[in-house]
Amino acid sequence: MKESVILSLENVTKQYSEDSKPAVNHVSLSLLEGDILGFLGPSGCGKTTLLRLIGGLERPQTGTVAIGGKVVCDRTNWIPPENRDIGIVFQDYALFPHLTVVKNVAFGLKNLSKQQVEQRVSATLKLVQLTGLEQRYPYELSGGQQQRVALARALAPQPKLLLLDEPLSNLDVQVRLQLREEMRDIIKAAGTSAVFVTHDQEEALAMCDIVGVMQQGHLEQIGTPEEIYTHPASRFVAEFVTQANFLPARRQGHFWSTEIGKFDVKTKDSPETGEIMIRQEDCILQLCTNSPLVIRSRRFLGREYRYCLHTPSGQEIHIRTGIDTAIPEGATVQISVADDLVRIFSDYTQKG
Ligand SMILES: Nc1ncnc2c1ncn2[C@@H]1O[C@H](COP(=O)(O)OP(=O)(O)O)[C@@H](O)[C@H]1O
Ligand SMILES: [Mg+2]
Repeated sequence: MKESVILSLENVTKQYSEDSKPAVNHVSLSLLEGDILGFLGPSGCGKTTLLRLIGGLERPQTGTVAIGGKVVCDRTNWIPPENRDIGIVFQDYALFPHLTVVKNVAFGLKNLSKQQVEQRVSATLKLVQLTGLEQRYPYELSGGQQQRVALARALAPQPKLLLLDEPLSNLDVQVRLQLREEMRDIIKAAGTSAVFVTHDQEEALAMCDIVGVMQQGHLEQIGTPEEIYTHPASRFVAEFVTQANFLPARRQGHFWSTEIGKFDVKTKDSPETGEIMIRQEDCILQLCTNSPLVIRSRRFLGREYRYCLHTPSGQEIHIRTGIDTAIPEGATVQISVADDLVRIFSDYTQKG
């Protein structure tokens, strides 16, 4: 079966006012049917605006939006949100407080008989595991349960595309982690495609099939979670997604020299200086009496230790190791990292 494109954006730009920077700047992408796409980036980078442009809650200055092969917005066409075949879930649930769970979920169902509505609501509540709570009001539910109702309400009309704006951000950590897993299963079981906004990198990597990393309105990189994590396209993506360490590096022949050692890294272009990216989990620590690297702190996080080291120049390096590597604070150590795990970002690759 050929996979078809459910969502495509071409050159979409949105500027809220003439004297402000574009909130969304020349974004193009496409999403295959059945996939979950995540927009990931810091607060204010344009994630919500981009989601609202897809949903028809905002209108772009330029660009084309197509859903399910149908243009819903371009220079001459405009299809309003209610005719875009989408479902929307917001961070604050936005349930109707005076309606029961059943009535909230039935709200968007049009052109169906009473019996069909009952069937659809009951099947959707089963999908989100709320069977038994049909007659409750929102205030009688926990945050996690309210968000399940909101999800059911968005899914009940069986939209082509589900849009979710930070749906887990208002929940406690425990509930958030559990619902994150279930939400992915529910969306997959419903057979719908989805666009999911979050500022939490772990959430994006865990929930989504494709992740688009945004900065200041730009889509910096789009790819599978594995691609984004292992081959970040820019310094920004590397820092935001992997929380890696960056150290100044200088080319010496075909090596890159840093204050913690030399690395054999290939780069496409040949800059003389740059920054080396070293992921926290890629380092091996060994006691070494005459090393200038000092362990300033060691924190036990259950599954791992998190170390903070100081280099001679005063820079901090964060490292995570298994709990079998227990080196005391104050000790001096050597760091080893496999050459193929580090990456170089030069000014050139940052711009490109
Ligand atoms: N309704 C609005 N009017 C004017 N500026 C807005 C509006 N909504 C968002 N912005 C601005 O657009 C930029 C992107 O915001 P937003 O899309 O909410 O980012 P995010 O969801 O990533 O935090 C920010 O600079 C924000 O201040
Ligand atoms: Mg937002």
